[in-house]
Amino acid sequence: MCGIVGYVGSQQAAPLLVEGLGRLEHRGYDSAGLAVLGPGREGRLRVVKKAGRVRDLAEALPKRFAGKVGVGHTRWATHGPATDVNAHPHTDTKGDVAVVHNGIIDNAAALRAELTEAGVDLLSDTDTEVLAHLIGRSEADTLEERVTEALARVEGTYGLAVLHAAYPDRVVVARNGSPLLIGVGDHEMFVASDLAALVRYTTRVVHLEDGELATITADGFTSTGHHQAVDLDIDPAAYDAGQHESFMRKEMLEQPEAAERVLRGRLDERFGTSHLGGLDLDARDLRAVRRVKVLGCGSAYYVGQMGAGLIEELARVPADAESASEFRYRNPIIEPDTLYVAVSQSGETVDTLLAVQEIRRKGGQVVGLVNVVGSAIAREAGRGIYLHAGPEVAVASTKALTTMHLAFSLLALQLGRVRDLSIADGRRLVQALQRLPEQLGEVLALEDQLVPVAARLAEAESLFFVGRVRGYPVAREGAQKFKEITYRHAEAYQTSELKHGPLALISPAVPTVAVVPDDELTERNVAALHEIAARGGPLVVLTHAAVDLGDLPSQAEVSRIDVPRSERELDAVLLTVALQLLAYHAAAALGHDIDKPRNLAKSVTVE
Ligand code: F6R
Repeated sequence: MCGIVGYVGSQQAAPLLVEGLGRLEHRGYDSAGLAVLGPGREGRLRVVKKAGRVRDLAEALPKRFAGKVGVGHTRWATHGPATDVNAHPHTDTKGDVAVVHNGIIDNAAALRAELTEAGVDLLSDTDTEVLAHLIGRSEADTLEERVTEALARVEGTYGLAVLHAAYPDRVVVARNGSPLLIGVGDHEMFVASDLAALVRYTTRVVHLEDGELATITADGFTSTGHHQAVDLDIDPAAYDAGQHESFMRKEMLEQPEAAERVLRGRLDERFGTSHLGGLDLDARDLRAVRRVKVLGCGSAYYVGQMGAGLIEELARVPADAESASEFRYRNPIIEPDTLYVAVSQSGETVDTLLAVQEIRRKGGQVVGLVNVVGSAIAREAGRGIYLHAGPEVAVASTKALTTMHLAFSLLALQLGRVRDLSIADGRRLVQALQRLPEQLGEVLALEDQLVPVAARLAEAESLFFVGRVRGYPVAREGAQKFKEITYRHAEAYQTSELKHGPLALISPAVPTVAVVPDDELTERNVAALHEIAARGGPLVVLTHAAVDLGDLPSQAEVSRIDVPRSERELDAVLLTVALQLLAYHAAAALGHDIDKPRNLAKSVTVE
């Protein structure tokens, strides 16, 4: 959510910063801006910023925008609408200081009032502008001291980068609650809020900690923390869409390999269990678990709900999922024998991070299911299961969700096998998990069949997604994906609850996407389909080949999609991928910018 990039070195900063911002655009695409310090000992600070996309900014840059020190920003608006003035960088009155900032300054209103009282003319509606003025008004000797002094006045979260014309050899950065990395090059240094902006230039990085302040100059970095730079083993090509028309499509297609990676080395066919070294829990610890509580946000929460169901089913231990954004505020009871599982692709979602901190503060045991290695949630939890999905750039999450589901399957197996789950069932599920990567490929092969169905769904203003028990979180995630990228009203419901109200909305204009797996509830699900069809509601039924839908009324508009099947405990992941394809092709039929859905951004790092 918002992207920061900075550079100091021997190259012209602007082209590098624009390229970096393009790589960060999934973090916010309301507006973008750059500041560079021009050549000369007393560098002149120049700023260009614009509402709109990074390409609009690139077009607005003057021909000569020289300078080898600079910072840039892509914005997802929090305070004030997306306008040129509200775009970052923000400057002080004299135009000496430029600040780019991610996060929220909670006491901005009070600081704005104080600055206005002192005669400062605030130009923007943002919280960030106060930082530029506070730094500009500081009389401390060094830029580091000025920034420290300003931050002492600030309550809230930040990842920020600061330029000052009086200190033209450096960028000063600080972190509190918003991710920030330093990239170490050869006589050039970078800073960014996300690895994506750095990998083309360097994979030698320093992850800053909360409360840390650091300085980059062409020759190195200094920091208030104690770090060594680490070399990351990453393929920069993984951050490119390559020949694919969008990152979402690329990431959907990568799911079979991502599934292989999350399972690799973790399945034990002989004993029908899994090995999860990163959990740091032995059989005794696992047997002592009396309850499992999964916490995540958005799609991670819905997959968490699938995971909790799976844990309860396989391990026979009470398990549920809750949205991390609500959890902290209801003063939850933290029990020492509950295993809390925080699930997050980015590892930076602030609501999930704060939930983890709250649990730890109260003595609860937390494990993370996280994709981004070294991210805040992974570090805060201290143990868990890395998802190994690879970088996920599209705002709409796909491959990370699949790996989350599989990580939950591994956890459920391990918990189950030290409790009630038989070796035969354990083996059955291990073998099913081994087949899943290939089966994910088979689901992706349904694409041609799904394209026309998706195009028809795209015409509806409003839709239902329904499922029961294991199928309900699948329907929730299906509706979520659909609304995110098509902007249609897609409402998820338990199929069993339709009769208790929403059936009133069923009409030929309101299609229902129904999840009808071949399981204990098939008959009940099929009965509901008949009730919908009898009221003229068009149906898209995601089901299995063995399911008999009966004689639906001949005038009913029904599309049936037979999804490959696994064991019934694991089917959810395959059904979810079919729903991703449906959402993707509906959005494509509507001509939407699929990787950058309106109003959203990847990684929600503000509350
Ligand atoms: C949906 C989506 C969001 C995220 C949610 C959690 O496609 O991407 O709902 O799932 O914001 O993000 P992470 O997993 O990074 O914590």
